[in-house]
Amino acid sequence: MDDRTGATKITVSSAEQSAYRGGTALRRRFPTIDYLRRHARRHIPNFAFEYGDGGAGTDKGIARNWAALDAVELVARYGVMPALPPVDVELFGRRYAAPLGIAPMGGPALIWPGADRYMALAAQAARVPYVLGTVGGLAIEEAAAIAPDVLWFQLYRMARNDHALGFDIVRRADAAGAHVLVLTIDVPVRTTRPREVVVGLGGGKFSPDLRMIIDMLRSPGWLMALQKNGHPRFANLVSYAGENASVNDVIAFARSEMGGAFTWDEIARFRDRWKRPMVLKGILHPADAERAVSLGIEGIWVSNHGGRQIEALPASIDVLPAIAAQVGGRASIMLDSGVRSGTDVVRALALGAHAAFAGKAFLWGLGALGADGPQHVIELLIDETKAALGQIGAHLPAEARSVVIRHPGALAFPK
Ligand SMILES: Cc1cc2nc3c(=O)[nH]c(=O)nc-3n(C[C@H](O)[C@H](O)[C@H](O)COP(=O)(O)O)c2cc1C
Repeated sequence: MDDRTGATKITVSSAEQSAYRGGTALRRRFPTIDYLRRHARRHIPNFAFEYGDGGAGTDKGIARNWAALDAVELVARYGVMPALPPVDVELFGRRYAAPLGIAPMGGPALIWPGADRYMALAAQAARVPYVLGTVGGLAIEEAAAIAPDVLWFQLYRMARNDHALGFDIVRRADAAGAHVLVLTIDVPVRTTRPREVVVGLGGGKFSPDLRMIIDMLRSPGWLMALQKNGHPRFANLVSYAGENASVNDVIAFARSEMGGAFTWDEIARFRDRWKRPMVLKGILHPADAERAVSLGIEGIWVSNHGGRQIEALPASIDVLPAIAAQVGGRASIMLDSGVRSGTDVVRALALGAHAAFAGKAFLWGLGALGADGPQHVIELLIDETKAALGQIGAHLPAEARSVVIRHPGALAFPK
């Protein structure tokens, strides 16, 4: 196995660290994540927006995630909250500034060139978890240099040659100091996202047609970011794809290596190798959560992949209470799929999660604000989380669990 990482030495300039010019003006233009989404649609090339925003089928899974979160009501208690509560939490033995983080994403640099780097910088500055994806645009070593205190790493299944590539990437994640390994188990098959297909991104390679080129020319900010950051690339796989591999060679290599979802036996083998905390992402059934915990997995990530796999999956918030009841005392529970506000974060905490993650919210931030987007999204989410906890009378994130909740969609599993 080729041992080279392809990573160059990373330095983070102080100008970059303090580039965010947030504050009042940004708050006024983009007071919530929904405003960022609306602006992103106009600010970046159409194919980029469609790639990040679209789901499986007719987006009904995405709509269900949003509706299910919206339907959760929390009954406030008053007379107990003289000041905004602190929101810092401990996850897997480390302290983070808030019970929220950035979910792993492949190809975010399509939404905004340099996206991975900007998300890593923002997460490190705010001290919230940043999960780099196998098919993200930063090499693990680069991400560790930018975000040493908050880096988690997500792995897809690459089973050829008895998992040689997967094991080597895990070795690199360990050497780079990633704090948590996340195995994604909910992509057993490649499904179709029609909005991505019709804009020309469905064929497994990036070859812009006239329509796409016109879209790019209409988005000068995006083009400048492309010039500055270079073409999006699967940075963790480049070094394995051969000398001088082009962007499309690396995409073809990734598609040939990745496939299927981890079996329980395979999960056990990764568990044996990885000595730090490990999380399974994509759990929707309490019995699967139980099985994971029985293998020594410390974290259960409840997710339906943000509605990007198939539309028939339940909203993750609706299966959360049953999973929390099953394993909440023995594992840390993460939730994603549909989180668009700090209020959603608090809904997840109230129903048994230890932290909530967002994917598309960060893409909308990038699409609307470019490099400044991730930090603005984190600030909105943290402030809204504090406000929602304060409103319901919870002095700490964990106290959200004591409130009375109406949750019409909660799924009951047969015993
Ligand atoms: C563009 C995009 C790419 C994604 N790529 C990955 C990936 O490579 N690995 C993974 O585990 N999840 C991936 N996801 C799923 C996210 O980690 C997360 O589960 C989902 O976005 C959460 O839902 P939300 O977008 O409604 O917040 C991706 C999501 C998006 C939007």
